Amino acid sequence: MNNPQLATLADKILEKIRLRPGHSFELSKLSHGLKVGKEDIIGALRLLQTLGYAVTSDGKGHLILASAPDSLLEMELSYRLKTKFIGKQIHAYKSVQSTNVIANQLAASGAPEGTIVVAERQTKGRGRLGRSWHSPEKVGLYCSIILRPKVHPTLAPGISLMTALALADTIASYDRIEVKIKWPNDVLIAGKKTAGILTELSAEIDRTVYVIVGVGININQKKSDFLEELKKSATSIRIELNKEISRVDFAQRFLRNFEKEYVGFKRHGLARLRNRILKYSSLLNTIIKLRIGRKIVSGNVLDIDERGQLVIQTDDGIKAYNAGEVTTH
Ligand code: BTN
Repeated sequence: MNNPQLATLADKILEKIRLRPGHSFELSKLSHGLKVGKEDIIGALRLLQTLGYAVTSDGKGHLILASAPDSLLEMELSYRLKTKFIGKQIHAYKSVQSTNVIANQLAASGAPEGTIVVAERQTKGRGRLGRSWHSPEKVGLYCSIILRPKVHPTLAPGISLMTALALADTIASYDRIEVKIKWPNDVLIAGKKTAGILTELSAEIDRTVYVIVGVGININQKKSDFLEELKKSATSIRIELNKEISRVDFAQRFLRNFEKEYVGFKRHGLARLRNRILKYSSLLNTIIKLRIGRKIVSGNVLDIDERGQLVIQTDDGIKAYNAGEVTTH
């Protein structure tokens, strides 16, 4: 068997042995059931071991799956993923420049809505406003989702807020922890940045062709994993919860929440999500400075409207803005 064939066989073996965790399987029965030779089964098991699966043998021809790795592998992410269309196609990589770049290429060549791209690390992770996103190996979740919403391009920025809501709910599902959304697209724990969203749009004048939602989440970073300049302003879920969590589990919970919010967004825009977004908002009733290109506006934040715009009481009256960078002091 060549490598792709072994990988397919490994998938099939996992499918069978996972259904009964802790149960032992006879090698000869597996080989018979899957209609392949024992050597091929052993080859596929070796492949699984290199991927981090602990498959133990009792020496009498019985196998047990002792543990699965917390790796962002397609077979891990898709196993028991409870979504209808988000993540039904998964492109998983060890290392890429940027998952958003790959997702853009896939979307331009017709990849269906819901396709996701994930990577264990990024060498040129992109942030908002031309910044970079530090993406060290195996501690974060770097993921891009391809969407094809039939919404006017001016409404597409609402997808960032909708994503922030799904992220905030996902983080809050782990523990009682103070999660906030900092408009337009940051998620904070204890006032420090834990996740960022980079939404990129391909549109015609009045039609959205596709949207790439890129999310970077600091999950299992330790303090020492952060760049010096980020140590004060960034944190990870592990630091705040004081324990490591499974990135695969986080990704699955997030994709599920994301799908639910996105279905709502496609029907009603932000109208029905707004109240929940406002509850998480870190800026409401706060005096802020908003930088839009070279312009700086300051004032008190009154609202986030149904278009996802930040509504501010300025000296020149009430104004709404759809983009910019906020500082609070
Ligand atoms: C920001 O806060 O500036 C947005 C950060 C977005 C980072 C994610 S990581 C996955 C995806 N691929 C990228 O290159 N960027 C986004």
